Amino acid sequence: EKGGFEHFMLKEIHEQPDALRNAIRGRLDFNLGSSVLSGMGSSARDLAEIQRVVMVGCGTSLHAGLVGEYAFEDLADVHAEVQQAAEFRYRNPLITRSDLVVAISQSGETADTLAAVREANQKGAFVMGLCNVVGSTISRETGRGVYLHAGPEISVASTKAFTCQVAVLLMMALKLGRGRRFSREEGTRLAREIERLPELVEKVVTQSARIADIAKRYADHEHTFFIGRGYLYPVALEGALKLKEISYIHAEGYHAAELKHGPIALLVEGTPVIALANDIPGKDKTLGNVEECRARGARILGVITEGDHEAAEFMDDVIEIPACHPLVSTIPTAVALQLLSYHIARHRGCEIDQPRNLAKSVTVE
Ligand code: F6R
Repeated sequence: EKGGFEHFMLKEIHEQPDALRNAIRGRLDFNLGSSVLSGMGSSARDLAEIQRVVMVGCGTSLHAGLVGEYAFEDLADVHAEVQQAAEFRYRNPLITRSDLVVAISQSGETADTLAAVREANQKGAFVMGLCNVVGSTISRETGRGVYLHAGPEISVASTKAFTCQVAVLLMMALKLGRGRRFSREEGTRLAREIERLPELVEKVVTQSARIADIAKRYADHEHTFFIGRGYLYPVALEGALKLKEISYIHAEGYHAAELKHGPIALLVEGTPVIALANDIPGKDKTLGNVEECRARGARILGVITEGDHEAAEFMDDVIEIPACHPLVSTIPTAVALQLLSYHIARHRGCEIDQPRNLAKSVTVE
């Protein structure tokens, strides 16, 4: 059932090229430079009336929403925000009919996300589900939405659902954007990049053995930091969550610019810092932050764009990601961090598919 893999998590990491293929299939329109998401189920006019996108979710799904936030603002020029589902529910959210609320949940059963859906429905928002499990409670109660088609996710740690969530959010933002200021040319260019995702992720997955080797050097520390900025900031948060949940290493994700405001005090000789320094806007600033970490003796693993010798100079170890559109690069970068966490946890002899204290779906609040 694990298809020859030692753990479901590793199997699901390797399934991502196919999972992404399924999530994308039939959903890109290269002529119009847009996406076809019939599940969004509303006329162009309805979509044009949306004034704000509010995404709700928990854990890894929340992190996917944080990437979505950048996508909606950049591509669709629409105000977008992400709220932890429990927070959304209890803070008396200001929601109106011109808000699109997107509930992001792999299982479609997370109690807090479901409660947020009910709250948003009650307030008359335009509510949509972004679920993997077909027929799940959230997908039923939202009534409309888009399925991931990522296939069943067995491992407690979410991997392929995250990358497919981000891919679908990019397509949603593209669709919304094309009804607004995003041009057909730009749309077609982005659609072509989204189409490359299976191939881009394949290039990361095939580095598994190399990443396993790097992981040995990061497995014996009790604290690890992940830094990134812009589109890669949420990916840093997700990398830290993955590492802590399966390896039990205390890991924190920070915006690279936040380091100087406190966290840098924690760095001592040899502390691992995983720096997301792909060649996207802000890279030079991140490299500056890497330099500050090195000066405190940190050991730096950089995730960089293939062939970026300048960035490589700053790092002790590197994982290379193929060059691609900055928003799209969040996905192969996340896959690199999934593999890193997996191999670190394996070196530490952890129960990878069933980490202590965790359940696959959190149906209590
Ligand atoms: C982390 C993880 C959890 C889930 C969270 C939400 O790897 O799996 O953080 O992402 O419990 O679950 P869903 O997406 O099913 O609502």
